[in-house]
Amino acid sequence: MSDALFSDETLRQMKSAIEEYPSRASAILPVLQLAQKEKGWISPETIRFASELVGVPESRVVECVTFYTMFNQQPVGKYEINVCTNISCALVGGEEIYGHFCKKLGLKNNETTKDGLFTVRHVECLASCGSGPMALVNDEYIEHLTTEKVDQLIEEWRRKG
Ligand code: FES
Repeated sequence: MSDALFSDETLRQMKSAIEEYPSRASAILPVLQLAQKEKGWISPETIRFASELVGVPESRVVECVTFYTMFNQQPVGKYEINVCTNISCALVGGEEIYGHFCKKLGLKNNETTKDGLFTVRHVECLASCGSGPMALVNDEYIEHLTTEKVDQLIEEWRRKG
């Protein structure tokens, strides 16, 4: 197993997460979350690494990565834009907001811009139903979205790079 795949700090956090569970295998999810936090996605090397670290077959890790939609199975943009199009958000314009992001960035669902800045996808309810339309962008909830606000955000993110 190559420890060099992750930074010392991430490795420390992974090992400490494993110690919190009576069975090492129960730590698959936190280990994958930490891996994605550092790398942005779960690569085949990461799957191999996690399987060895927690001591389970690779197939168990793959099951988690493919079941939970929050795990990226391919590289994503610096700004990962998850727009809720579930019922409460849809009733107040979620689909329109999702469509606007796609149109402005020239993307279809789950695609990433060539400059590696943006990935857009539509997702199911993110538990912020009273403040739709909303999106989860990286770790931040952005609520009460309008098309004007989307334009401003894209401009701001492009400026920041
Ligand atoms: S329906 Fe959008 S957050 Fe629940």
